[in-house]
This record gives sequence, structure tokens and C-alpha cells, in this order.
Amino acid sequence: MTDLLLLPGDGIGPEVTAQARRVAEAIAPDLSIAEAPFGGISFDQLGSPLTDETLAAAKAAKAVLMGAVGGPQWKDAPRDKRPEAGLLGLRTGMGVFANLRPAICFQPLADASSLKRELVEGLDLMIVRELTGGVYFGQPRFIEDLPGGGRRAVDTQVYTTMEIERIARVAFELARGRRNKVHSAEKSNVMETGLLWREVVTDLHKREYADVELEHILADNAAMQIVKNPKQFDVMVTDNLFGDILSDAAAQLTGSLGMLPSAALGAPGTPGLYEPIHGSAPDIAGRGIANPLAAILSFEMALRWSLNRADLADKLFAAVNRALEAGARTPDLGGKLTTIQMGDAVLAEL
Ligand code: IPM
Ligand code: MG
Repeated sequence: MTDLLLLPGDGIGPEVTAQARRVAEAIAPDLSIAEAPFGGISFDQLGSPLTDETLAAAKAAKAVLMGAVGGPQWKDAPRDKRPEAGLLGLRTGMGVFANLRPAICFQPLADASSLKRELVEGLDLMIVRELTGGVYFGQPRFIEDLPGGGRRAVDTQVYTTMEIERIARVAFELARGRRNKVHSAEKSNVMETGLLWREVVTDLHKREYADVELEHILADNAAMQIVKNPKQFDVMVTDNLFGDILSDAAAQLTGSLGMLPSAALGAPGTPGLYEPIHGSAPDIAGRGIANPLAAILSFEMALRWSLNRADLADKLFAAVNRALEAGARTPDLGGKLTTIQMGDAVLAEL
């Protein structure tokens, strides 16, 4: 059985996952590691961004570590064959509905953020993004020609009680092990899904999690508060689209999008999907300068959440922190290290 399945994917994906693999082989030599084609490169070679074989391999592994998908060369591919469609298919196929996106400001990077040091120093925010529902998947969705000229596009935002309750439960459980505070972000002032979201979260809180502090916040205000006073937050739970947007904003607080890992989890006992939240970064792909830390930290999350090796995860996290303390910086962090040299720096600290 494969412990860790790597899906390097497109753009900088192969470069950063190669460093995560080196780290994995060093810290946990007993792990069995395999790789499978995924994303645009899989479309080019096999006609699909997510083949049945790759999905089956992902479901059979203990943890899946993805690099990145997409790039300008596939912009004209049929919509259902685009690399991004492969990623959405992988998320739903694996049933990983809970996306944990931690924004942690490493002490040595407190000056790398575009925000003032005092605003981000010590930041430890966990965004819990619903990942398999909402407007990303809602039906109907289409673009149609209008008789009088012009076209009309429709997306559907849809959530059920079950979907909201299970993601809120993840947020409350996480908060109990942290600073015991949950912000639930939606647009209940204008959206039906927002209204239901608020009701379901309120109900669940009353029934089972009254010990956790809960605050509802409108998603636009959440965006503003994230850049105004991010340390007020502990856990923020939100839907698929708002979570996509708010987590990019939160990432920048930590100094660089190249620092943020994520874990997507499903039912207990099923494999988790781990991905750096940065994309394929076509502008720097192939140049060997991408920051591999988001990929390495995604592997750290895999150790913790799927591979049952929290001890190694702690060790790896500390090694990354020491590498940063020692001044290791890729260009996104204002330094000159290559992707491989950043991998070397982490390995040296291990
Ligand atoms: C992310 C990405 C993806 C998303 C894209 C690549 C489909 O932006 O993981 O945040 O929108 O979910
Ligand atoms: Mg995104």
C-alpha cells in the first residue's frame, strides 16, 4: 500500500514536490512513496487531467500530496478537461470536504509581510474552507446565447444543512484544541445560502459547542478585518468561494503565498489531500526559484493528519523555522536561494 502519493502536476508543481519528496525520504524513510500523472500534463499525455487510475491510486493511498495544476497552455482546453477540473474532480472524488488552511507567521518572516510587523507577528489563523460544495459545483451552470444577442452565464451557489453542519463541526473541534474561538463568514445579508449557513452554524453551536466562542461575520467585513487586525481570529469557517478568496488574503500576511500549506480532509479513515495553496505560477515555472516551503509544510500536515506521525511533523516544522531563522530565503521572500537550495536548508536543519 502506498503511504504517500505524489501528484506533481503542472508549472512549479514538480519543482516544489521534488523538495517535499527529499524531505519525506529523509525524515520518514519507511514511507512508501509513489507518483501519478495529474493536471495539464496528464491531459496532454493521457487525454484527461484526472484519469480513473490516478483517482483510484489517490483513494488507495494514505495521503496524497499535490503540487499545482494549470497554466496558460490549457486555457483553450474543453472546460471539463482543464487542469482545474481535474483538481475539482479529485477533491470530490476523494470526498475531502474540509480544507484546513493555516496562516502562520513564522517569527523570522515577520518583516516579510506587506503588513506591519506588529500586525502579523505571532499570527496563527486557521481558515476552514468548505471544499466540495457551493458555487464550485452547484447545478445548473452554463453560458447560453441570448436571442437578441449577447450571452447569459449562470452559476449556482447551493448548500444543504448536512454540508454546512459537517464543516462547522470541523471548525468547532479544531477551535477546542486552539484558542476556542470560531468566526463564521458568509453573506447572510444578501444570500439565501448565507442565511441558511448562519442558522445551521448557530443551531449546531447551541446544541453541541456552546463552550466555544462563536462570532458571525459578513465575508466582506472578514476580508477587511484580515488585513486590519488579523490576530483577532483563531478559526474562521466559510464556504468554498469565500474560503478561496480569504485564504489568499491570509496567505500574504505570512510573507508570501509560497508559505501556505493546506490539508483537505474527508470522513475519518479516508486519505487526506495535501496541497500548497499557491498555484502553478507559470511566470516562474522551470526556473528553479519557486519556494518549496508550502509543499514541504503540506507534507508536514500529511504527517500530522493522515500518517499518524505528529512527532515527525513537529520535528519538520521546527526545522523549517530554524532554516528561516538562519536566513534561508527564496526570491518571493526577498532572498536568492533556489528551490533546491531551500530544500537543502531544511534538510540541513533536520
Ligand atoms: C485553490 C485554487 C483552486 C481553487 C483552483 C486552482 C481551482 O485557487 O486551491 O485555492 O479555486 O480552489
Ligand atoms: Mg485559491
